Order: sequence, then structure tokens, then C-alpha cells
Amino acid sequence: MSTLLITGANRGIGLEFVTQYIQAGWRVLACCRNPDKAEALNQIESKHSDLLSIYQLDISYFTEIEELAADLFDEEIDVLINNAGVYPESNLSSQDITDDNWILGFKINTMAPLKLAQLFAPQIAQSQQKKIINITSKMGSITDNTSGGSYFYRSSKAALNMITKSLAIDLASQKIATAVLHPGWVQTEMGGANALITAQKSVAGIRQVINRLTLENSGKFYNYTGEEIPW
Ligand SMILES: NC(=O)c1ccc[n+]([C@@H]2O[C@H](COP(=O)([O-])OP(=O)(O)OC[C@H]3O[C@@H](n4cnc5c(N)ncnc54)[C@H](OP(=O)(O)O)[C@@H]3O)[C@@H](O)[C@H]2O)c1
Repeated sequence: MSTLLITGANRGIGLEFVTQYIQAGWRVLACCRNPDKAEALNQIESKHSDLLSIYQLDISYFTEIEELAADLFDEEIDVLINNAGVYPESNLSSQDITDDNWILGFKINTMAPLKLAQLFAPQIAQSQQKKIINITSKMGSITDNTSGGSYFYRSSKAALNMITKSLAIDLASQKIATAVLHPGWVQTEMGGANALITAQKSVAGIRQVINRLTLENSGKFYNYTGEEIPW
């Protein structure tokens, strides 16, 4: 049986990953900030307690990541999906993005995925599939940026892209493959009601890309449909 470890599992794209991987018979280690309030996740657990385990994790507290990695030291983790993310307003005229918010956002979108990859690499290296997936955004593509703005989000995801490329190089000796995945513009709290696709469609596409990920195509930036996105 394959095992998934995922962050931000209580809603949006993360919850859909849990739903689909459980349907596919995977064991899922689902992390979220407030398990007590994660109603949908708890409902899945009540039906699939053999497959789903829920863990409290706020990824902006690196000590919590360290404690979880220690608790799960003997797990074989086939796929880590760094899904949790934030998108605060940050345009040139915006007063919203204070220094503290900026730093907290970078911890969540950029530094925590690296921390999880570092601390869980031993458990991933012991598994069959050995894959680390970082959920990025096309807004992190420098080539694709034709409209400006969104300083925080664009830069945090562009930095995540670079981290993922370095991880591909550094973890190849442990046979761990990595990729950054753009989920599309998805109908979630972050994506909004006008978004183009459902979380169901996005996650179904991403799962196929994950299936095709190997050491040979590691370290790349993919759309949920499987096409490569220019950096
Ligand atoms: N939706 C889109 O159109 C779109 C497009 C491109 C990329 N993405 C990316 O896709 C990923 C998922 O987005 P989504 O649309 O599902 O967003 P969402 O509906 O806003 O959900 C965000 C998830 O991240 C979690 N999270 C935020 N800060 C956290 C922290 N400090 N510790 C742990 N969990 C935290 C949230 O938990 P709480 O419930 O506790 O806040 C929630 O589970 C993100 O990385 C996002 O950047 C989304």
C-alpha cells in the first residue's frame, strides 16, 4: 500500500487530494492547522479510519514540523505533497502586506515546503515511489508574468520553484524525484467562484502527472494537464 503525506488537507485542493487518494486505496497522513474544526476531513476519517490519519500541523512553526517528522520517523512515505499556501493581497499600492505578514507568508509558501522535504527525506527515501510534489502557481513563472502585481505571491512561488529544482539535484542520489505543479485556476476559497476548474478536475490531472514522475523528468514545472510551464 502506498502512503501520502499532505499539508493543508482540511479544505480546497488539499481536501480533494485526500478524497481521491483514499478512493484509490492509499494510506493518507493528512496535516492541518485545526483538526477539531476539520469537519470534512473528520467525516472521511470516520468512514476510512484504516486509511486516514489526521495530524495537527501549522507549517509556519518549524518546531511542529520537526516534532511530526520525529513522530513519523518509521513511516515509509511514497509521496509528500506540500499543498498548504496563502495568497495575501500585495500590489504596489497595497498597504496590506506588512513586514510581519510578508515574512509569515514566505515561511508558509516557501520555507516550510523545504523544511518538510529536508526532514521527511529519510522516510521518503525508504518508500517505493520516492516523490516530493510542491504545489506552486503559474503566477510564479517569470516568463508568464505579463500583468505585474501580486509581489508576495509571485515571488514566494518563484522561490519555491527554485527550491524544487535544487531538491531534484540534491536528492537524486537518494532516488527521490521532485516536481512543482500548477493546479490550474481552481474553485476554492483561494481561487474564488469564478475560477475555471473544479478541485476534482485539478487533482485528477495532478495525480496523473505524479504517476508519470520519474528521476528522468525530475525537477520540472508542470501544469495539472501535464504540459511543462516555462520558468
Ligand atoms: N486555487 C487556485 O486557483 C490555485 C492556483 C494556483 C495555485 N494554488 C495553490 O494550491 C494550493 C492549495 O490552494 P487552495 O486553492 O486549496 O487554497 P485554500 O482553499 O485557500 O486552502 C489553503 C490551505 O492551506 C492551509 N494553510 C494555510 N496556511 C497554513 C499554515 N500556516 N499551516 C498549515 N496549513 C496552512 C489552509 O488551512 P486553514 O484552513 O487552517 O487556513 C488550507 O487548508 C496552495 O499552495 C495555492 O497557492 C491554488
